[in-house]
Amino acid sequence: MTATSFRVSSRLSDYTVHLLDEASFLRDLVEREHRVFVVDENVWGHHRDGILAGLDPEQVLVLPIGEETKVLATVEWLYDRMMDRGSKRNTLAVAIGGGITQDLVGFMASTIFRGIQWVFVPTTLLAQSDGCLGGKTSLNYRHFKNLLGTFHPPNDIIVYTPFLDSLSDTEYASGMGEIVKTMVLGGEETTRALLFDLEAAMARDHGALMRLLEPCLVIKKGFIEADEFDTGYRHILNYGHCYGHGVEAASDFAIPHGQCVLIGMIMAGITARRRGVLAEELRRFIAEEVVDPAYVVRLRKSAVDHAKVIEAMKWDKKRKEGGQLALIMLMDGYEMVEVQDLSENEALETLEEFEETYAEAAGEGVAFLR
Ligand SMILES: NC(=O)c1ccc[n+]([C@@H]2O[C@H](COP(=O)([O-])OP(=O)(O)OC[C@H]3O[C@@H](n4cnc5c(N)ncnc54)[C@H](O)[C@@H]3O)[C@@H](O)[C@H]2O)c1
Ligand SMILES: [Zn+2]
Repeated sequence: MTATSFRVSSRLSDYTVHLLDEASFLRDLVEREHRVFVVDENVWGHHRDGILAGLDPEQVLVLPIGEETKVLATVEWLYDRMMDRGSKRNTLAVAIGGGITQDLVGFMASTIFRGIQWVFVPTTLLAQSDGCLGGKTSLNYRHFKNLLGTFHPPNDIIVYTPFLDSLSDTEYASGMGEIVKTMVLGGEETTRALLFDLEAAMARDHGALMRLLEPCLVIKKGFIEADEFDTGYRHILNYGHCYGHGVEAASDFAIPHGQCVLIGMIMAGITARRRGVLAEELRRFIAEEVVDPAYVVRLRKSAVDHAKVIEAMKWDKKRKEGGQLALIMLMDGYEMVEVQDLSENEALETLEEFEETYAEAAGEGVAFLR
């Protein structure tokens, strides 16, 4: 393993992503003046005597985690704790946790004193491979997910894979789904690189995972730099998410996000082949050799209602008012395209073909861990 870092340019302020193989970053942060550590409660529970042993427990703000805590009230709690500690404009906030911690601390940091500096140390595979980049912060408001938000990138992002040792198999598999998606949309070369390390990374080999994380983050960086404020081009990153979100919602979020993305990739392949823009050979290769090793939380036959999937796809933010459904597809030559003219009937036929070909026999629950 080797440590690397790269810069991400942003019109707000450039920031650096560090992929590290040792934990000395923590000592450097502890030694800084005027800093506050905010740590996910589960991460604190698992790592307070290990990776995080250098933090003074008295000084750590332990964050309650759940979608229901990703709300303004928790940010107000953070404002209060920050002020109790005499924070000033030059206080640095250090967030250690997954995407929920990122959103809460990022939102707090972007608003208190009209913006303070912050560092994000992602601890889920989803956040390390994908969510940490992009500079967005979001809160849930009433029943609206991610309704409130700001753009306020952290100054540094520190990726340290040993945090993942305590992650559950389903959370880990979720992150692997997002990695597979990004490496495929990176093109043929990164797809080959993915295949080389996929099996070992699935078995949680840190070296193999680090070899995938770097290109994955660099691919995402390319899209973000080209479309920082998410106005169009960045939509391509939503490959796998169109049908994927639909299945996720229709399963009542029983299937982890990244695994739904894999299902979405297989489905997008079916639609693309039916439209004649993706040869069966490449479609099958992606579905059965690239996606399959990572697709471990398997959807059961007839487990989700197809009408519900399509209903949820209508809420896709890429979709234009009044139009058909939106879809990002891989085409021949590893070209990616966004279409806005997917008909409900086409989507239904795709869902049916997926079910016949890839869904597992019926049983208890919506899905099962292979
Ligand atoms: N701001 C952004 O750009 C952005 C990007 C992607 C996702 N998100 C948001 O992030 C959230 C999802 O984030 P996520 O999937 O990274 O995780 P999460 O923050 O939802 O955490 C998932 C679970 O894993 C636990 N956990 C975290 N790290 C752990 C570790 N190392 N060991 C054991 N348990 C650990 C958490 O306590 C929690 O129970 C959603 O709310 C999503 O909207 C934000
Ligand atoms: Zn995603």
